[in-house]
Amino acid sequence: MSVGERRINGHLLARLIGPRAHERPYYLAVARAVSGLVLDGRVPTRTRLPAERDLAAALGVSRNTVTAAYTWLRENGYLDSRQGAGSWTVLPDGGAGAAALFVPDAEHIDLGVAAPAAVEGLQEAARRSVEQLSAHVGGQGYAPFGLPELRHAVARRYVERGLPTAPEQILVTNGAQHSVAMLLDLLVDPGDPVLVETPTYPHALDSARRHGARVRTVGVGPHGWDMEDLVDAFRRWRPKVAYLIPDFQNPTGALMDDDERAAVAAEARRAGTSLIVDESVAELAIDSGDQPAPLAAHDTDGRVYTVGSVAKLLWGGLRIGWVRTTPPMAERLMAVRQRHDLSSPILDQLTVTRLLADVMRVRAERSRQLRRNRDALTAALRDRLPEWRFTTPSGGLVLWAELPRPVATALGDVALRHGVHPAPGPVFGAEGTLERFLRLAYTQPPDVLGDAVDRLAAAYAETLARPVPVRRDLYV
Ligand SMILES: Cc1ncc(COP(=O)(O)O)c(C=O)c1O
Repeated sequence: MSVGERRINGHLLARLIGPRAHERPYYLAVARAVSGLVLDGRVPTRTRLPAERDLAAALGVSRNTVTAAYTWLRENGYLDSRQGAGSWTVLPDGGAGAAALFVPDAEHIDLGVAAPAAVEGLQEAARRSVEQLSAHVGGQGYAPFGLPELRHAVARRYVERGLPTAPEQILVTNGAQHSVAMLLDLLVDPGDPVLVETPTYPHALDSARRHGARVRTVGVGPHGWDMEDLVDAFRRWRPKVAYLIPDFQNPTGALMDDDERAAVAAEARRAGTSLIVDESVAELAIDSGDQPAPLAAHDTDGRVYTVGSVAKLLWGGLRIGWVRTTPPMAERLMAVRQRHDLSSPILDQLTVTRLLADVMRVRAERSRQLRRNRDALTAALRDRLPEWRFTTPSGGLVLWAELPRPVATALGDVALRHGVHPAPGPVFGAEGTLERFLRLAYTQPPDVLGDAVDRLAAAYAETLARPVPVRRDLYV
């Protein structure tokens, strides 16, 4: 779409901004609302905003107020203006902000990247896979759907988890993010409505936006999903696609129960929505207790695309993931994949196949390790930061902490000077809000986590004592 084709009129924008009369300064409330609409895709990028006088009339305010709001949006990277031609919405830095989070940080104690060290036995499995290569090197080395033995192992694991699955339903990919990007390629056209959780996994959100999706969010917290809102979103908005993380949701740790899974599948069917279900951390249960069967167990007509990965269970350095779908859709997805790459590494696939043969041992090891780390982190937080609130996650790699004050971004900056790197809440939100939250990964051993919390406590005290003037007035 060329610049200027998409417009929004004053009345519609005023309606989307909503009532803000109680907020001061008013121009900033308007500017924040518009930046939130751009960030969550409800006003797509490259949309021409109404003339200042039109929006002023629709909002019932002076033109100066709208001029100030547009100036703020321009200065903060949300508007691109041309003299006499108008103003178009854009994302700051081309929307690259969120991606920075997952650059591993070797200088500080890194609580921002939720990626554990490799499981025991990985090197041995890799060595034995090298020996096995002799059976493959005489061939072409391409396996567009994945090695048959790996597809078989992945399918068998679904069967064990209560979901009948044939190997033909598995397309091996280079990781969960690769799978999500391919699925969005297959399922989403520019302007399509896409439903995501807030907070959510930022790279999936980024990918949806880059596909030109109109993103709408539904709330989730450590205690679960706002089911009323979720049902309402399906019924009224009829999303083309919904991207959900029902198992130890990233970043809140929430686990969707079986009834809710059934309800989501039923609503998606009624609304004609395809579901991308990200199970990247589904195998990382920490506490014993029944984990519901995969959401796809409630699928009756092939609309659920399940994304899996070994990055968290085995190691992020093995770039192997998959999509579970119907055999015909696996073929279509493979055709989409070929625009980007042709096959996943054979050596990695052999190694993963070996380790999956021993999946219960691996799961038990991860579970023990994560329990020990999580319990060390929660004990240290209770001791050193008793005013922070959290729900202890029953699985996954991260804890979603709620601060008494909306200072997460400022605290993140101060914490770096104290040698620790947490992930501030706004990174996971579509609206740039969530300033009361921090995501803390517990992938490091207890002594490191204890040290990290000492440093966080010192950083928090410093943040409160000398509030850093970064965008404090902007938090809503
Ligand atoms: C929910 C979620 N999806 C996808 C990914 C990316 O996984 P992979 O390394 O397999 O691409 C992650 C990694 O943190 C994740 O937490």
